[in-house]
Amino acid sequence: MLKQDYKKRLVYIFLALGVLFGISVQGCGLVADGDKGIISGEVWRDMNGDTINAHGGGLIFHEGKYYWFGENRPASGFVTEKGINCYSSVDLCDWKYEGIALGVSGEEGHDIEKGCIMERPKVIYNEKTGKFVMWFHLELKGKGYEPARAAVAISDSPAGPYRFIRSGRVNPGIYPLNMGTEEQEIEWDFSEYKEWWTPEWYSAIEKGLFLKRDMEGGQMSRDMTLFVDDDGKGYHIYSSEDNLTLQIAELSDDYLGHTGRYIRIFPGGHNEAPAIFKKDGTYWMITSGCTGWEPNKARLLTATSILGEWKQLPNPCVGEKADKTFGGQSTYILPLQGKEDRFVFMADSWRPESLSDSRYIWLPIQFNEKGIPFIEWVDRWKPY
Ligand code: GAL
Repeated sequence: MLKQDYKKRLVYIFLALGVLFGISVQGCGLVADGDKGIISGEVWRDMNGDTINAHGGGLIFHEGKYYWFGENRPASGFVTEKGINCYSSVDLCDWKYEGIALGVSGEEGHDIEKGCIMERPKVIYNEKTGKFVMWFHLELKGKGYEPARAAVAISDSPAGPYRFIRSGRVNPGIYPLNMGTEEQEIEWDFSEYKEWWTPEWYSAIEKGLFLKRDMEGGQMSRDMTLFVDDDGKGYHIYSSEDNLTLQIAELSDDYLGHTGRYIRIFPGGHNEAPAIFKKDGTYWMITSGCTGWEPNKARLLTATSILGEWKQLPNPCVGEKADKTFGGQSTYILPLQGKEDRFVFMADSWRPESLSDSRYIWLPIQFNEKGIPFIEWVDRWKPY
């Protein structure tokens, strides 16, 4: 009898905990004690209690609020059915759903026709025009990942709706600033390089084999991010040349196009998922390797001039699962407003079996005694 009472009590305690748990699900991860916090890898819910669906995302801060843009992914399948989602928050924990910032088109043959693939949206604010400009990676409907286009959209207000402007490859007919005339003049016989990963092929990639192949139609642009420098100049950073080489291209003053000034970095380095920040005049970029939805070891790249020389440093992640970026792939680095020199590393833990269930990993960036950034797993933390 006594035993049964005890059992019953236990059941009640569990039920009560369940209810408590259920109703206290907040912006960032599960909150068991009513206190907010970022718990990477958990299901994150918006203020309506719906799962946050904003993958491969990026954030901006505008007039006291953060706006988070990301891919709205379906529960099954890989193509875009709705568009780019937007959420807003003042504390990075309670997220209000703002709706679809840029929706797919119902028009047949439209660049962003339903069934296209919209990935890694990033938004920047243009001080000169007062407009919000979104760039994202676009693949046309039914074409797999072949088109490799960059697409741009514009809005008068941060949450949108954004108006699609155009999509295409980048800087057609233009050589990068850091390619000498000797390399520009090489006449490649493409039939000699059908086999990938041979030493000859690597050397040809470094010298611009694929850049030259794509010269006429423009450079491929897949995983991407945007960056606005202190002088207001905007940059588009993207995996190009069949994901083998990163390119950094200057944007026009209105951020709606490219100026033709660009560089290639780490040719053949296979960098994806670029995320960038600047601290004390130094640029830091975190990228991933190229293993699709599977996590791999992050890379840390640095430069003192954005269109200058970049060098590579060891993996910035430390501790358990650091060799797999804690199960994630970089997407954005957010400077925390009102907190000097504090940055958040944001990554996606992809679940290809159901992409909408992919999780978010947001971790604070720390700096060692030499000022070099590193990232450790933190079970739970508060940005504010
Ligand atoms: C990843 C990339 C993602 C998505 C995926 C498709 O490597 O970072 O954004 O494109 O491949 O397989």
